Amino acid sequence: MKTRIVLITIVAISLLVTGIAMAGIKNSKHDLSSGSTTTSQKSDVVGSGGTDQLCVFCHTPHNATAGFNPLWNKSLNSTTYATYGTTINGTANVAGTLSGVTKACLSCHDGVNAINSVVNLGGAASNVKISGAAAGAVTIATAGNLGTNLTNDHPVSLTYIAGNASLRALSGTGSTSVVKVSANATAGTDLPVGSGAAAKVECSSCHDPHGTGNGYFLRATTNQSNICLVCHNK
Ligand code: HEC
Ligand code: HEC
Ligand code: HEC
Ligand code: HEC
Repeated sequence: MKTRIVLITIVAISLLVTGIAMAGIKNSKHDLSSGSTTTSQKSDVVGSGGTDQLCVFCHTPHNATAGFNPLWNKSLNSTTYATYGTTINGTANVAGTLSGVTKACLSCHDGVNAINSVVNLGGAASNVKISGAAAGAVTIATAGNLGTNLTNDHPVSLTYIAGNASLRALSGTGSTSVVKVSANATAGTDLPVGSGAAAKVECSSCHDPHGTGNGYFLRATTNQSNICLVCHNK
């Protein structure tokens, strides 16, 4: 009897630990390592041109791309994007003028830049071999491919002007600006809209690429459109 209780406890604890690990990057769709269980496009096994590293697809501790934080392990994006344009309230974003974090996401999600090309793996630039694909650069092959035409996506790299589109007041200024989730929606974290000196909405305002425990790496849930209501008082 005692052994059974102990066993049940052990199973319960390991389930709990697995549950917590799921909220992080391991086995999320951003775990492109050879051991990943989720992503359809992931690294081949070590020894066949692949890697079991997780962070390396985005970050490197040394010899990162200069002038593009945080320690970015991909080349600067030279693609020109068609941006949303002018909103009903007259806020414009000009073609090609996307800020850093958004460009970081698009360095895989635009369907042009390779998901497996890194600036530094073991001291050299490399195309990590993707399992089942030919050696060389591989682009994203799923609904995650947003393309270079962002006119049909929620505007990004756009100045956040409280009041427009019923947008709620900001807390903080410049790079520390957030929209407080606590007062507006029931679950999630405050949404960061800080980008340099200006408050702007970026891909990372709604998503945390390291995983959140919510679907789609979202910082607040889509239940009752929680995530939208954090910013828009509709
Ligand atoms: C799919 C790409 C991707 C992967 C994989 C990834 N990161 Fe990040 N990381 C980013 C992006 C994009 C940012 C910038 C986010 C922002 O400014 O909001 C970032 C920012 C960070 C930051 C600084 C901001 C913060 O939240 O503290 C740290 C530290 C970090 N990552 C660590 C890691 C580590 C450690 C791993 C591996 C376990 C990892 N990342 C894997 C994309 C990634
Ligand atoms: C190293 C390449 C890379 C970078 C950089 C990257 N992603 Fe991804 N992302 C992927 C891949 C690969 C997938 C999985 C596609 C699939 O298998 O469906 C994915 C999936 C996603 C998904 C879908 C998750 C799901 O549960 O279906 C979201 C949302 C996402 N990424 C957002 C972002 C955002 C936001 C950023 C920047 C902060 C970012 N990604 C940066 C490669 C990347
Ligand atoms: C205003 C909030 C917001 C911004 C900004 C945003 N997203 Fe999303 N994104 C969402 C929501 C919400 C979903 C989930 C949609 C659903 O449930 O169908 C999503 C889904 C996704 C998906 C899954 C595939 C799909 O089409 O549903 C990807 C990939 C993705 N986002 C990437 C990005 C990237 C890259 C950026 C920046 C260019 C970005 N997102 C900017 C809110 C946002
Ligand atoms: C991080 C804050 C933030 C979140 C979260 C957010 N938005 Fe927005 N949204 C903005 C900003 C900033 C604008 C631009 C307002 C302006 O100045 O015109 C905007 C504009 C819009 C517009 C108007 C576009 C136009 O042409 O006038 C719509 C519609 C919209 N958002 C829908 C949504 C929906 C749906 C969601 C949830 C999936 C969402 N937003 C989540 C910040 C946000």
